Amino acid sequence: MSSKTGLKAMLGSAMVVLSACAMTGAALAQDAEASAERTIFDGVFTQEQADRGAGVFSQNCAVCHGNAARGGSDAPGLVGHTLNNKYADQPLQTYFHIMQTTMPLGRGNSLPPQTYADIMAHILSLHGAPAGEEELPFDEEGLSAIQIVRAPQ
Ligand code: HEC
Repeated sequence: MSSKTGLKAMLGSAMVVLSACAMTGAALAQDAEASAERTIFDGVFTQEQADRGAGVFSQNCAVCHGNAARGGSDAPGLVGHTLNNKYADQPLQTYFHIMQTTMPLGRGNSLPPQTYADIMAHILSLHGAPAGEEELPFDEEGLSAIQIVRAPQ
């Protein structure tokens, strides 16, 4: 075998390895998409839940955040700042976890998990997401399967 054909053969097998990697990458990307089965616009909370959340929000959060859409004097507007920017395209679980463990500021985890879910429903409703038939869950698995997406302009 001449050294030239040897090189060709080596290049050939390198190509096979490379394209196999590219295929695995594509398959992984597809899996990631498939694991977020729903988005926040698929009716992931009930209207009743969002209404409950609005009440709790005004008692525990509005003093700093004002109307959640606008934001208060020194706290971010939760809809514009967080859902449309910082947390856009992330699992709802990520957002929920931060909210639950750090809010109200300095008193994280001070409310029952159900109450945090109700507040989340209220915030999603202000974001423009429609209510549906089932309440928003507050378990990690359930929230991980719902993806945050930006509000349509
Ligand atoms: C004492 C004032 C205060 C109260 C009360 C308060 N927050 Fe906040 N919140 C803040 C401040 C200040 C920030 C920005 C802190 C930061 O970015 O680290 C913030 C940030 C947030 C964020 C965004 C976190 C991020 O990663 O960007 C969320 C969500 C949030 N608050 C939700 C709530 C909810 C829900 C309540 C009520 C249960 C609440 N907050 C009550 C002051 C407050």
